[in-house]
Amino acid sequence: MAMDTSLLFQTLSVKGRTLRNRIVMPPMVVLRGLTTPEGVEWYGRHARGGVALVIVEATAVNRFGGSHLHLAHSGHVRNEDVTPLTAENLRPLVDAIHAGGALAAIQLFPVSFGRPVSPAMLKRDEIDGILAGYRAAAGICREAGFDGVEPHGAHGYVLNLFFSPVKNRRKDEFGGDGLLLYRHTPVGQGYGIEESLALAEQLVKAGVDILDISPSSIEAPGDRAAPFKRFGVPVITVNELDVVERALEALREKRADLVAIGRALIADPDWPIKVKEGRLDEIVKCTRCDEMCFGNLKKGIPIECTQWA
Ligand SMILES: Cc1cc2nc3c(=O)[nH]c(=O)nc-3n(C[C@H](O)[C@H](O)[C@H](O)COP(=O)(O)O)c2cc1C
Repeated sequence: MAMDTSLLFQTLSVKGRTLRNRIVMPPMVVLRGLTTPEGVEWYGRHARGGVALVIVEATAVNRFGGSHLHLAHSGHVRNEDVTPLTAENLRPLVDAIHAGGALAAIQLFPVSFGRPVSPAMLKRDEIDGILAGYRAAAGICREAGFDGVEPHGAHGYVLNLFFSPVKNRRKDEFGGDGLLLYRHTPVGQGYGIEESLALAEQLVKAGVDILDISPSSIEAPGDRAAPFKRFGVPVITVNELDVVERALEALREKRADLVAIGRALIADPDWPIKVKEGRLDEIVKCTRCDEMCFGNLKKGIPIECTQWA
């Protein structure tokens, strides 16, 4: 008998916007640019594959609007795209995602992605600059038509290290007409779930609409995300959830409202459609080799997949 995957294909409404199902494309730096035909095609292609929400890759706030273009280079992303981002040149990207039927959000990174910056290294005026960068970036993203923005507060990068980003999240900046997501790692250097829950409570009070909890444990799908459900906003969980039973289990046991599928969408953008239509055997499977996704990212070249024909 065919697997019942209907839990994955229920709609979800958040703040007046409707996600067509429970599948999210998490932010993944693909090194194709955001204003290039290759970048627009990459994201449009993934939207057409059936995900409900595309979160565009970690993007430095100092790339927006031309006013904060002092970019500090180092980091591991060698061929970093430095095209100044504007509402005009971002619109094709947003339009391509919308044309594919998905909502479009973008992950905003405080400094150049991959740059090893710690809170202690940042002077007061640099922090002010980052905050101004977030404000400018969020405004431009809204103007470009993005449905939401997501500060990257996860994975041990600088905002995650600050751990009090609630001060950076003002309702007026992020507005009443867009979604505010926040990506957080539930257990990190020197903190655990309890501290993270205290942070999440403040984030939700400050207006965060969707909590993106990354990474969750791979043993019990969504278990690390589950405690964050208590705040009443939808929760995204991630980590090897392309094993359909694991994604369904996370939803069925109400450990999360949305599942993000990362590397498996690099291997096969049509993962959502194929699951929906019961064509599981046609899915090009991610083997977790990490050779040409994380591997290429480290080398600074556009990510690809060893499983592509
Ligand atoms: C090539 C690549 C780039 C990534 N870039 C980002 C990023 O920009 N921001 C982020 O929060 N996570 C990033 N991630 C992590 C993914 O969003 C996701 O959390 C991770 O791959 C685990 O999910 P999966 O098991 O479904 O692949 C990246 C992952 C890959 C493979």
